[in-house]
Amino acid sequence: MKKVAFIALALVTIAGAAFAGGKPDASKMEKKLITVGYAQVGAESDWRTANTESFKSTFVEANGYKLIFDDAQQKQENQIKAIRNFIQQDVDYIVVAPVVETGWETVLKEAKDAGIPVILSDRMMKLSDNSLYTAWVGGNFLKEGQDAIGWLDAYVAKSGLKDKDLNIVILQGTIGSSAQVGRTQGVTEGIAKNPHYKLLAKQTGEFTQAKGQEVMESFLKAYPNIDVVIAENDNMAFGAIDAIKAVGKVPGKDIIIISFDAVHEAFNRMIAGEINADVECNPLHGPRVAEIIQTLEKGGSVDKIMYVKEGTFDTTNAAAILPSRKY
Ligand code: AHR
Repeated sequence: MKKVAFIALALVTIAGAAFAGGKPDASKMEKKLITVGYAQVGAESDWRTANTESFKSTFVEANGYKLIFDDAQQKQENQIKAIRNFIQQDVDYIVVAPVVETGWETVLKEAKDAGIPVILSDRMMKLSDNSLYTAWVGGNFLKEGQDAIGWLDAYVAKSGLKDKDLNIVILQGTIGSSAQVGRTQGVTEGIAKNPHYKLLAKQTGEFTQAKGQEVMESFLKAYPNIDVVIAENDNMAFGAIDAIKAVGKVPGKDIIIISFDAVHEAFNRMIAGEINADVECNPLHGPRVAEIIQTLEKGGSVDKIMYVKEGTFDTTNAAAILPSRKY
């Protein structure tokens, strides 16, 4: 534990309530809050909204926390500014969901020099010195990409498409984010292994619905024979679906759609047959990060890397699974 924050309100009440009846009541003497600064990526997707909500509902005063939340609008320079602000405010912990993997050494060194532990959540950083962060928790993006192609391989085998050549396009996430890097690697390596898979194009849709739609429109113009779209998140898949419908094609039938995240709306789209399969990326990291902080507060040690278990869903099980989904 680096330090504790005291609520002013509690201090004001010390003289009154804490000493009522002549005896000091330790539980009322002070209320310690742990101050956490969260440098969030932005609000680019349904997944991100669920992630923000997970932190905002976990790091509340009733649980012993004060949360300072910063939305960086998908810009690394904003996140660096936010981290510097957290250092100035002398927070107890800094949590970062880094927009991209590289370029963090200087600011993390500043946090280290200030004695503030940094916990990474969701996306990863590529650092020359891993002592600059205490722990990371998130999804295994490379495995997610591999799982997407694993699902396609199985689907092709059971639908009699084994000998058909398939033209594939990829809507990538924010270039340089670990979610994009891992998923693109898993997907492109899987494509390269199958002589019937042909990668026509890959381009970023920046994890947003509007950009996903725009890029898909340009893909459809350039390539009239697309068989498979792999969208590196659900919101880009929703944009792609609109673009496909606009050219008179049927998403999920004329063009196979595989997506990532598995948010509520993606389940609805699977039930409607518009998305064929969705690889889960779990955004509910608030309680996981709180557990790390609680362990550190007690002087315990935590695993440096914690992967969250994630599944793959498709049109065959979406309706049965949707009621149990939390985001
Ligand atoms: O880093 C996780 C990714 O970021 C999610 O797949 C995407 O929806 C979000 O914007």
